[in-house]
Amino acid sequence: MVKRIVATSLGLLGLPTVFGYADRLGERASNPPFDIPPQSAFVDPASFAVLPENGSFRNANQLFNPTNTTPPFFQIFNKGFLPILGSSPSINVIAANASFAFAHEAPIYVPETDELFFCSNDGGALGMSDLNHNNKVFKISLADAEKEMGANGGNVNVPITEIPLSDDIQMTNGGTGPFNGNLILINSGRGSLPPSIALVNPKPPHNSTTLLNNYYGRQFASLNDVKVHPGSGKLFFTDTFYGFINQFRPAPLVPGQVYRFDPDTAAVRVVATDFNKPNGIAFTGDGLTAYVSDTGAAGGEATDPATIYAFDVDETTHAFKNRRVLAYVDTGIPDGIQVDTEGNVYTGCGDGVNVFAPDGTLLGKFFTGMVGANMVFAPPNRLMILAETKLFLAKIAAKGVV
Ligand SMILES: *[C@@H]1O[C@H](CO)[C@@H](O)[C@H](O)[C@H]1NC(C)=O
Ligand SMILES: *[C@@H]1O[C@H](CO)[C@@H](O)[C@H](O)[C@H]1NC(C)=O
Ligand SMILES: *[C@@H]1O[C@H](CO)[C@@H](O)[C@H](O)[C@H]1NC(C)=O
Repeated sequence: MVKRIVATSLGLLGLPTVFGYADRLGERASNPPFDIPPQSAFVDPASFAVLPENGSFRNANQLFNPTNTTPPFFQIFNKGFLPILGSSPSINVIAANASFAFAHEAPIYVPETDELFFCSNDGGALGMSDLNHNNKVFKISLADAEKEMGANGGNVNVPITEIPLSDDIQMTNGGTGPFNGNLILINSGRGSLPPSIALVNPKPPHNSTTLLNNYYGRQFASLNDVKVHPGSGKLFFTDTFYGFINQFRPAPLVPGQVYRFDPDTAAVRVVATDFNKPNGIAFTGDGLTAYVSDTGAAGGEATDPATIYAFDVDETTHAFKNRRVLAYVDTGIPDGIQVDTEGNVYTGCGDGVNVFAPDGTLLGKFFTGMVGANMVFAPPNRLMILAETKLFLAKIAAKGVV
């Protein structure tokens, strides 16, 4: 079902008077008319550029939902979001547990079995992990979720299965793959147990091989996220301070940085530094541009970064060069990052997943109304969003870089 909305009839969206937008929308909507897909709302930037005297301003932890649309929905700021959504997008919950942040990071889609792997939060009130308790890695069958959605429509709650893992793997916080058939898990470490990167067999018995757990004999602070560089096959990963902040790691003894690990030689080196708290990492499909999120503002200082930086990747040394800003997110902090085949950048924020064009334009949001820590494409047409206590399945047109 496609609703035809033209600029002059935007008042029909039922905009709340709290921002005093409704009248202004009619006068100032500047985008051309286009079809609004299902489960979507258009918010014209011209409709809120000037808030009325004594308007309701907000802070970074409050949601920006001027159409008062019930989440989850697709919040469109720019018509460049339309080809990403396609004409019949949908977004639904496929697993939920209000008392457990089971769906945090390390989203890895395994096509062979149509399964999604992910880890629980390694800290926080609902993480159920701390200095004395490791966090957990789970899998869920997307085939089962789709079957149930087909039968019942809308939101479903499909069981998740815990993956038994070796004690070398402590506080998993990121992951990617499959890489030569294996999951790559990156782990923050716990207490004196070191942060590490490990290959994990996605099939029982889920045996693993640790690839790296130190920098020339020194421990990392708390390893956070990892991606394989397209073309070279080298692993690039971030190290940051959440283990210390969440009180399960000692005080950091190295800066927050981005490293490269060469799986062929086991050599490790720094490719980017000067961050507050580097976090998510992703590459464009050609491997020439890297994106790194800095979640500094999560430390509680509103003036610290909530920023995604872009870099050129040196074709010989793989050093990250020519750092520039891609985006400063308007809600929460930008956590995990993925890039689609058109070069659009997806990042998990305080309100869901925000999507930026390569030129930094905010195209739209997968507005879950709650933190979206990370996400992953699950071909042919799905984006899986890890929202701590909920796992969302969105059906869209865009596809992730391979
Ligand atoms: C805005 O607030 C100020 C201070 O409370 C008040 O004097 C003024 O009348 C208000 N303006 C409007 C349009 O309500
Ligand atoms: C939610 O998670 C808790 C902690 O693991 C578990 O005890 C409980 O059974 C879960 N609830 C559901 C409905 O899965
Ligand atoms: C798991 O064990 C099998 C059989 O020994 C081995 O071939 C494979 O490389 C192991 N996988 C990992 C990730 O260690």
